[in-house]
Amino acid sequence: MTNSAEKNKIHWQAVRQAAQFISPYRLQVLYSLIALLFTAAVMLSLGQGIRLLIDQGFATQSKELLGQYVTIFLLLVVALATGTFTRYYWVTWLGERVIADIRSAVFNHLIYLHPGFFEANRSLEIQSRLTADLTLLQTVIGSSVSFALRNLIMMVGGIVWLFLTNVKLASLVVVCVPLVVVPILIYGKRVRQLSRQSQDKIAVVGAYVGEILGQIKTVQAYNHQLIDQQRFQAQVEEAFEVAKKRTQQRAFLITLVITLVMSAIGLMLWVGGIDVIEGQISSGELAAFVFYSIIVGSAVASISEVIGELQRAAGAAERTLELLQTANLIQSPDNPLPLPQVLGNISIEQLSFAYSSRPEVLAIDQLTLTIKAGETLALVGPSGAGKSTLFDLLLRFFDVQFGSIKLEGIDIRQLNLFDLRRCFAFVSQNPALFFGTIKDNLRYGRPDATDEEIQNAAQAAYAHHFITQLPQGYDTHLGDAGLGLSGGQKQRLAIARALLTDAPILLLDEATSALDAQSEYWVQQALQQLMRNRTTLIIAHRLATVQSADRIAVMNHGHLEALGTHSELLQSSPLYAQLAMLQLQSN
Ligand SMILES: Nc1ncnc2c1ncn2[C@@H]1O[C@H](COP(=O)(O)OP(=O)(O)OP(=O)(O)O)[C@@H](O)[C@H]1O
Ligand SMILES: [Mg+2]
Repeated sequence: MTNSAEKNKIHWQAVRQAAQFISPYRLQVLYSLIALLFTAAVMLSLGQGIRLLIDQGFATQSKELLGQYVTIFLLLVVALATGTFTRYYWVTWLGERVIADIRSAVFNHLIYLHPGFFEANRSLEIQSRLTADLTLLQTVIGSSVSFALRNLIMMVGGIVWLFLTNVKLASLVVVCVPLVVVPILIYGKRVRQLSRQSQDKIAVVGAYVGEILGQIKTVQAYNHQLIDQQRFQAQVEEAFEVAKKRTQQRAFLITLVITLVMSAIGLMLWVGGIDVIEGQISSGELAAFVFYSIIVGSAVASISEVIGELQRAAGAAERTLELLQTANLIQSPDNPLPLPQVLGNISIEQLSFAYSSRPEVLAIDQLTLTIKAGETLALVGPSGAGKSTLFDLLLRFFDVQFGSIKLEGIDIRQLNLFDLRRCFAFVSQNPALFFGTIKDNLRYGRPDATDEEIQNAAQAAYAHHFITQLPQGYDTHLGDAGLGLSGGQKQRLAIARALLTDAPILLLDEATSALDAQSEYWVQQALQQLMRNRTTLIIAHRLATVQSADRIAVMNHGHLEALGTHSELLQSSPLYAQLAMLQLQSN
């Protein structure tokens, strides 16, 4: 009971939200409604046209009258065509417009959302919602809704005309209506549930394709195609099974409705035919009557069919709008404190943090560490020690559970998020590049950078040389995620991009790990220059990098194991001594 009440609540929220998206276009809604009413009215008058045509035109045997009525009939057809044009144009326009707005709104919401959200919700699945679900919604807003409305108007108008024409026959039609509506209500619900399942399965299939194609080399290197084939096949079949069930239900529904409607019309022809034979009604009246019955019948049938579609769309809308309702867990405070000039004083106090997907393991465990402005601090430690996690926390991708991180004495949670992130130039462990030219990628953090600044940064990152050797130099297009570059080249671009942002604090997460010894030496030289007047946190495995740091923090299992210079640590920390002995290269 509570469960279904809960479901209804969410559903209504979705409807309200959807209405919000439509409300800016009241005028267009009005145009559509007018056109809808107009075409329905014209369509309904056609029945009267038929009656006149038969009774006055044929029955009176007057060619003149026949000509007049045919003219009226043709005028009605022109009106119908004009109305249909207007209706089709504005209704489709509305659908496209509203979906475009929803798509942007969802995207705008998603790109600010806390990164943790995308771990629990596979980003590829979200992608499918933005495409498949919204496309479904688009057809519904852009056609099914108008189709349903038009049929609703025609149904009501048709029933009114029926009663005006012949009460006895009309009553027959009306008695049959519940026969059609009841199965719609029963089957509609099942169809809707299956539809949601079906969309879910398709989203999973989409996510699977994205993942496999994104890692195609690994797939082929391990000769994994056959297994992927089978897995994919299984997923596709599952999706098909659900779709089949849904189709069965809908097909059954449609069959039932058509049978009922057509039987009722047959009955009417029989009863009405007897009346014509007995001379109680004219043949024009019977023709008009059958015309209206067919309109009413097919309207009811169409509505029943569209209701399934509408329910499918309601499911899609709900899922898409759910995304919009996801609360952003990482937000600027309402009254952020002003950030003083950032020199790079960072103090980490009693910091503990566990990923929400693994709450029982502390990725950072009671860490206390003070970083002075201008210093270079190297973070070393075995794999999984929590080094990258610490960077994530500095950038506030996650909020800490205990303790605090302070920048220039201010808790980072009290700062405006954009101000905070502007303080950091970040090179992640996996250099992420984007579709676009090299230049686009370099000025990613500073869109207004001049060509000269871009070149300087590239030179500092020892990337200028290889860039100029590419066919189009700085204007060379990169594929998705920097496809077409070597690992080391990508790293150098990532470093150049970070340098260009000119932020006071540099965060380097194994930024030079993919470089050969010579390139690394040069990049290192460039970094030395940059580190001189910046606070730098550098995660590294190589002894050369680590040794040149002012201080070294040794991390293990999320806590700080030792802190000091290279020579101090060699004495005091067995773990460091061991790492140093292994050249800090393997982990
Ligand atoms: N998104 C995540 N969800 C859950 N646990 C995570 C997540 N990211 C990292 N962890 C876990 O947190 C711990 C610390 O990971 P982290 O990436 O900070 O290690 P690291 O010191 O950077 O290691 P490496 O040197 O291999 O890069 C590890 O045990 C890891 O499994
Ligand atoms: Mg790491």
